[in-house]
Amino acid sequence: MNPRAAKKRGGTISSLLFVVGHPVSHSLSPAMHNGIIARLGLPLHYVPVDLPPGQLRGFLRIVRAGNFLGGNVTIPYKEDAAALADTRSEAVEVCGAANTLVVRRGKLHAENTDGEGFLDALEGQGWGRRYRRVVLLGAGGAARGIAFALGRAGAREIILLNRHPRRAERVAELLSRRYPATAFSGADLRPQTLREEFRAADLIVQCTSLGLRGEWENFPINDVQKTSRFADIVYRAGGTDLVRRLRARGVKAVGGLPMLAYQAARSFALWTGREVPGDAFLKLAIKALKLW
Ligand SMILES: NC(=O)c1ccc[n+]([C@@H]2O[C@H](COP(=O)([O-])OP(=O)(O)OC[C@H]3O[C@@H](n4cnc5c(N)ncnc54)[C@H](OP(=O)(O)O)[C@@H]3O)[C@@H](O)[C@H]2O)c1
Repeated sequence: MNPRAAKKRGGTISSLLFVVGHPVSHSLSPAMHNGIIARLGLPLHYVPVDLPPGQLRGFLRIVRAGNFLGGNVTIPYKEDAAALADTRSEAVEVCGAANTLVVRRGKLHAENTDGEGFLDALEGQGWGRRYRRVVLLGAGGAARGIAFALGRAGAREIILLNRHPRRAERVAELLSRRYPATAFSGADLRPQTLREEFRAADLIVQCTSLGLRGEWENFPINDVQKTSRFADIVYRAGGTDLVRRLRARGVKAVGGLPMLAYQAARSFALWTGREVPGDAFLKLAIKALKLW
């Protein structure tokens, strides 16, 4: 609810929520959260905060002392927010990245709703939460959150492929200690490795920032099996290039918008205690993306 709308309805804004990142002008989170807040008639407002580098510690000091219930954290502050928070969930401890902060009696608690939000989104597609062999492209904050959630859900094997393979190997080592029943491994992102790993994958998850702009050159699209499912966590109006091309080949593929909506629903519940279906957030995200 914007302040003018609140005034018109005779309401007042008692607390604030935020998304902090750099840049944040592209974020659909304000449209989703303010849409739900207006629908529920809550005295809250969600604001975007574009923070120049080096200022997160100072901003979080204001959040602790101010009129905030909490907020979201996006690129490039997910790791720093995890380190600067006063307490952390298990997902944040293991992944080292936070996408949600909750203010509790002047202290900041860090959460990561990306992984469970991703699984909620797959479930929303009728795909289920438990997989036999998953190939994850990337090893950044989002990939780590998703690998953690897939491991917790009982995936048998998770292979992380990353441009810097050592990073993928380190994540695999870390998660193997947490979930010994899941076989984690890490390797490079070269086309030949993708080809080999795609063969027996039942789920492929694209978690790199490639695809935000234009095409992924040399992606072995014809080696994705028709029996595999493909999830790109990046979203674009009309679908990412990979999602469009795979669907054209008859592969079941989903973009990142449902994940965005379902992780938002989980964050909203943490701040307000209100359980709102992820689909309600998704409808608002689709509407906002059309206006983008
Ligand atoms: N739908 C959603 O709700 C949702 C949620 C979170 C994130 N996302 C999207 O997911 C993407 C990743 O987010 P993140 O938080 O994980 O970011 P991050 O921590 O910065 O990780 C970026 C990942 O992309 C890889 N990468 C970047 N540029 C590359 C290139 N030119 N070639 C190959 N690999 C490259 C990095 O590989 P290296 O390790 O080798 O650098 C790393 O694995 C972003 O586009 C973000 O918008 C979507």
